Amino acid sequence: MIVYLNGEFLPQEEAKVSPTDRGFLFGDGIYEAIPYYKGKPFAFDGHWKRLQDGLGFLRIDFADHDEEKMKKVFDELLNRNNGLQQMTRAMIYLQITRGAPPTRSHVFPVSNGTVVKPTVFATCQEIAYPSPERWTAGFSAALVPDQRWGRVDIKTVNLLANVLAAQEAKDKGADEAIFVTEDDAHLITEGSKANVFGILKDDANGGSKIVTHPLSRQILPGITRNMVVQVARNAGLIVEERAMTRAELTEEAQEVFITSTTTEIKPIVKIDGKVVGDGKAGPMSTKLVALLRSQIE
Ligand code: PDD
Repeated sequence: MIVYLNGEFLPQEEAKVSPTDRGFLFGDGIYEAIPYYKGKPFAFDGHWKRLQDGLGFLRIDFADHDEEKMKKVFDELLNRNNGLQQMTRAMIYLQITRGAPPTRSHVFPVSNGTVVKPTVFATCQEIAYPSPERWTAGFSAALVPDQRWGRVDIKTVNLLANVLAAQEAKDKGADEAIFVTEDDAHLITEGSKANVFGILKDDANGGSKIVTHPLSRQILPGITRNMVVQVARNAGLIVEERAMTRAELTEEAQEVFITSTTTEIKPIVKIDGKVVGDGKAGPMSTKLVALLRSQIE
């Protein structure tokens, strides 16, 4: 595996980050996961904008790495890794931390009068699709209390609550974790690594509607979420951006699915052991995945 670190392409074993790196000591950094289909980025502008928003929030100066420069880095990374360029689907992982000052101190580091340079790391990997049969059979999820901090809209590397939630789901035999607020409202926010959608009955027209948490500080503004909302609206489907309650998700939803760069649309057919809808990927999930893929190909 060849990785990119601070301007160099080198074998992963030779890529060394200092033990005083702010990402390691404080989780002081952000990341982005960008999908590439047959060597071409998908929704790159959205990923780049979210990265810039995160850098702005953290006040990390990354101005000398512009979009064109980083696109060349990603292309080269894919090329150098056994032709990942040709693979159907690959993901670029990019991480930027506040760099490695000589000593540990909470405030932003300055060394010899200059701001410490950020650490820039990128790697790539193939993302395999589940077989159509596996996808249709659907996946399971466990509800986990949302104990994350107040700015999860920023894609920081502080993923401790997400890691613990994903493990809790795994320990319970579930494939995915879905966060529910700890207050009495019991609202569904998102997954440990994906956004959450439910298909609910629409009393107004007797049909169904697509419901997902609105953009706010309580969820990551998923690029896939955004695409799904767009393609659904363009197809004339009803999308309601509001938080679902736990009861709506587990007792009323006809279908549930999660979205992310790595999973596209992943049907959830069992939540805390309770079957959703008719227990397999439903017609809306199937329709939306086709609409999403039509944007990609
Ligand atoms: N996760 N919500 C959370 C908490 C996430 O970590 C992710 C993505 C998403 C979906 O965002 P997008 O559609 O832009 O991928 C939502 C990435 C893939 C990860 O951490 O690996």
